[in-house]
Amino acid sequence: MELARTIEAVRESVKTARREGKQVGLVPTMGALHVGHEALIRRAVDECGFVVVSIFVNPTQFGPGEDFENYPRPIQADLTICRDAGVDLVFNPTPEVMYGQENLTWVTVEKLTEPLCGRFRPVHFRGVTTVCTKLFNIVLPDVAYFGQKDAQQAIVIKRMVADLKMPLRIVVCPTVREPDGLAVSSRNQYLSPEQRRQATKIYKALQKSRELVDAGQTDARQVVAQMRSILEQIPKAQIEYVSIVDAETLDELDTIAGRILVAVAVKLGPARLIDNIVIEA
Ligand code: PAJ
Repeated sequence: MELARTIEAVRESVKTARREGKQVGLVPTMGALHVGHEALIRRAVDECGFVVVSIFVNPTQFGPGEDFENYPRPIQADLTICRDAGVDLVFNPTPEVMYGQENLTWVTVEKLTEPLCGRFRPVHFRGVTTVCTKLFNIVLPDVAYFGQKDAQQAIVIKRMVADLKMPLRIVVCPTVREPDGLAVSSRNQYLSPEQRRQATKIYKALQKSRELVDAGQTDARQVVAQMRSILEQIPKAQIEYVSIVDAETLDELDTIAGRILVAVAVKLGPARLIDNIVIEA
C-alpha cells in the first residue's frame, strides 16, 4: 500500500492503475476509521481494481466552536486498517496541499443544503462539496463511496455530481450500527459510558417512527412528537432536529407518503450525533 501526501504522487499512481485498465474507486474520509468506514472500503475493494482512501480532516466543513481541533487523528491505526482491507493508496494531505494560502473558489449546492444539518451548520456542506470536488479532480475516480449515515451529505454530493456533469458514479452504502443500534461514528468516542448508554435512544426513536408508519400513521407531526418524547428522556440532550422529509427532495412533509427520510440530530455532551432511516410509506 502506498501513502501519498502530494497531489502529484496520487496522479502518478492513478495514471499507472488506469493504464493497466483498472477501475478506480475513491473512499473519502476524515480518518479515525471504524467499521462503518471499513464497510465502504471493502465494497470499493470488491468492485474496483484500484482503491484510494483519502484521510483528511477538512477544516472548511467545521464551523467556529465545532470539534476541528479535537477531531481524532489516529493515522497509524488508520493506515493498518487500510492495509488490511486491501487499499492500494492512502492520500493524506495537509490543509496547505488542499487549500494553499488562500482558497477563493467554492462549490455550493443550493436548496438541499438548507434543511436538517444545514440549518445548524451553515458552512458545513460548502466545505464538504468543495473538498469532494477537489478530491474528485485529484483522483479522477470512476466511483466514489459514501455512507447513508450522512444521508443529507450523500444526497448533496449526488446532486453536485449530476448538476456539474462530473464523470463518476456515487455509491451509497448502508449505515453500520453497533449491536445496540447506535450508528457507528468517530464522534461516539467523545461520549461518557453513561452518555453512550443513553445514545441508544436515538435509534429507538427512529425505530418508533418505522413502527408508527408501518401501523398506518400518516401525520408527520404525530410521529415527530412520539420520537421527541423518547429523545427527551436522554438527560441533558439537546435535540437539534427531528425531521420527516421526502427522501429525494428533502422537503419537509406534513403527510407521510412515498419514500421518506426520518432524520435526527442530537447534541449529547461534547458529541453531536446524527442518524436517519429511510421508510417506504
Ligand atoms: P467521515 O465522517 O470520516 O465519513 C466518511 C464516510 O464514511 C462518509 O461517507 C460517511 O457517511 C461514512 N460513514 C461514517 N459512519 C458510517 C456508518 N456508521 N455506516 C456507514 N457509513 C458511514 O463524511 C465525511 O467523513 C466527510 O464529510 C467527507 C465526505 C470525507 C468530506 O470531508
